[in-house]
Amino acid sequence: MCGIVGYIGSGNVYDVLIKGLHRLEYRGYDSAGIALVDDKGKLSVFKAKGKVANLESYCEDKNTDSAVVGIAHTRWATHGEPSDHNAHPHYSEDGNLALVHNGTIENYQILKDALIQQGCTFQSETDTEVLVQLIEYIKVHNNCSLLDAVREALKEVVGAYAIAVVEKDKPDTIIAARKSSPLVIGIGDGEFLLASDATPIVEYTKDVVYLKDEEIAILQRGKPLQLVTLENEKAKIDVKTLQLSISQLEKGGYPHFMLKEIFEQPKTLLDCIRGRVVDGGKQVMLNGVLDNKEQFLKARRFVIVACGTSWHAALIGKYLLQDMCHIPVAVEYASEFRYSKPVIYDTDIVIAISQSGETADTLAAIKIAKGMGAFVYGVSNVVGSSIPRETDSGTYIHVGPEIGVASTKAFTGQVMVLTMLALSIAQLRGTMTPHQIEEIGKEILTIPDKVEGILKSLNEKVKQMSLIYTYARNFLYLGRGYSYPVALEGALKLKEISYVHAEGYPAAEMKHGPIALIDEEMPSVIIAPKDHLYDKIVNNVQQVKARGGSIIAVVTEGDDLISEIADHVLEVPKVSECLSPIITSIPLQLISYYIAINKGKNVDMPRNLAKSVTVE
Ligand code: F6R
Repeated sequence: MCGIVGYIGSGNVYDVLIKGLHRLEYRGYDSAGIALVDDKGKLSVFKAKGKVANLESYCEDKNTDSAVVGIAHTRWATHGEPSDHNAHPHYSEDGNLALVHNGTIENYQILKDALIQQGCTFQSETDTEVLVQLIEYIKVHNNCSLLDAVREALKEVVGAYAIAVVEKDKPDTIIAARKSSPLVIGIGDGEFLLASDATPIVEYTKDVVYLKDEEIAILQRGKPLQLVTLENEKAKIDVKTLQLSISQLEKGGYPHFMLKEIFEQPKTLLDCIRGRVVDGGKQVMLNGVLDNKEQFLKARRFVIVACGTSWHAALIGKYLLQDMCHIPVAVEYASEFRYSKPVIYDTDIVIAISQSGETADTLAAIKIAKGMGAFVYGVSNVVGSSIPRETDSGTYIHVGPEIGVASTKAFTGQVMVLTMLALSIAQLRGTMTPHQIEEIGKEILTIPDKVEGILKSLNEKVKQMSLIYTYARNFLYLGRGYSYPVALEGALKLKEISYVHAEGYPAAEMKHGPIALIDEEMPSVIIAPKDHLYDKIVNNVQQVKARGGSIIAVVTEGDDLISEIADHVLEVPKVSECLSPIITSIPLQLISYYIAINKGKNVDMPRNLAKSVTVE
C-alpha cells in the first residue's frame, strides 16, 4: 500500500504532486506529505495526518511555488500509528535527504539498532526513517554520491520497497528504486514523473517505464533517463505506451467512484469479452490458452491463489472449471498458500487472480508455485503490474481503473474471465461439445445488457429498501452452489464499506451453527436464483422465516414461491447457472453501497483499508 509520486520539470512541482497524491489516495489515506527542493538548495518537508486534503490545507500558507523538484507520499500505516511524525517523507538527521517509501523493510530493527549505536537518533517509529538514515550514513562515511549510497543501502535491506529520494544540494535529481513494490517512471517533454502506478502520470505523458526489481532510476533535469542495477550495471530501458485516459480516472458525474464502477459494468463486461467471444458466441477462446495448448492439455489440476474479493472470484472459478473441464480445482488464500507446505506438481496449473496485480501475498504464492515447477496463469486488471509480469501467461480483465476501494467491476470482470477460461479449456480438452460451448457463448454476449437491465430496474428499489436495513447491526448472506461465493462477496462488500458485521455462509451450513444467530434483528440476504439447488434453498429460506428473521431474497424473475416468503425480493433475469454469479452480485453491490451511504460512510475510502495491498 501507500502511494508515492515524484516530479522534476518546469511545471508547478507542488500542483503536480498534490494532484498525483489524489490519484493515488486509494492506496492509503491515513497521512500524507511532500518534500520540495528549490533551486537555492532549500529542502522543505510538509506533512499532515489524514487525507491529502488535510495536507493541502496545511500547505496553504507555505511557500510551495519555488520548488523545482519534489516527492510526495500518501500513507497506509504499517510501522507506527498514523500521525504527523510517522507520515512520509522522512528525512535524514542532518536534513540533507528526504525519502518516500512504499513497502516494508523487514530487517529495519537490526539496521536501526546498528545506526543508533553509531549515534543516530530517530524522529518516528517507521521502518522508512531507518532507510533514509542508512543512506545518509553511507553517503557521509563513504564520501560517495547519493546514487552509490542508495545502491549500498538497498543491498542491506530485506523486504519490499519502492522509494524516491531527493537531496538538498542537488535540485536537479531524483533517485528512485524498487523491489516487490511497484514504480512507474513517466518520460515527458523535459520532465520526469514517477509514481506507484500510471494514474498520476497519464496526463503529462503516455511514455512510461515500469521499473524492475532491484533497478534504480536516475531522473536528472536535462538528461535522458538512466537505469542501473544495485551492482551499478546499466539496465535496459523499455519504454511502453500507456493505454489509459484521464476520463477513466474521474467520477463522470457520479457521487462516488464505487457507484460509477457499479454502473460501468455493462460496458466493462463488454470490454472484457470483446475479441474473446466471437462469431456470435460460437467461439470462446482466450489467447493465453491458445498460446499454451500443451500446458492446458497436460494439466491434471488447477490451484487458484488469490486474496479477498479475488478469492471469492476464485471460488466461482472452481465451480466453473470443475463443471466445464472436469479437472480437480483447489482454491487457496495466497497468504495461507505461501506459508503452508504446498504440494505442487509440474502438471498443475496455478491461477493467480488479482485486480491490482500487486498484492504481496499473491505475488509470493506465484513465486513459490513457479519455483515448484507449476505453470502460472495470471488474471489481472492493471496492465504492466507485477503479477502479469511474474506469470507465465494470463488474461487481463480489461475493466479499466478501479478506484473505489471496494471491488465491484473487477469482481464481475474476474468471474467473466474465469468463465471464458473454463470454456476455452473445455474446448481444447473436448469436455464440452461445440454446441454446449456455443450455447454459453451466445448467452455471455447477452450479459452486459442484462446487467444494464438490473441496474435500471433495481437501483431505486434497493435505495429505498436500504433505508429499512441501515440500522441492522448484523447480516447473514446465504447461497448455495455458484451462489455461495456470491454470498461471501456480498457480505464482504457490506462490512468493508459500512462497518456492519456480515457473514457469508453456504446456506445448508446455517443449521450447523449460525442459525442460532437468527432473530428479528438479524436480516438474511439469500441468493436464490432458479438453479439445480433452488428447491434446497427454499427450505433454507423457510428455516430463516420460521425463526423470525427478515429476508431479502435475490431471485429469478417470475419466482412466486420465495416471493411469498421473503420480506423483500430483488428479481434478476434468468441465465444459465454458470453465469448467475455475475447477475446476482449486482443487487448485492447496490445494497452495500446504499447502506453505507445512509450511514454516512466514505464508500470510496473506507477506514483502515487500501486498494493495493503490497504488504503482508
Ligand atoms: C474487497 C477488495 C479486496 C481485494 C484484495 C485483493 O473489495 O477489494 O478484498 O480483493 O485485497 O486485491 P487484488 O485483487 O488487487 O489482489
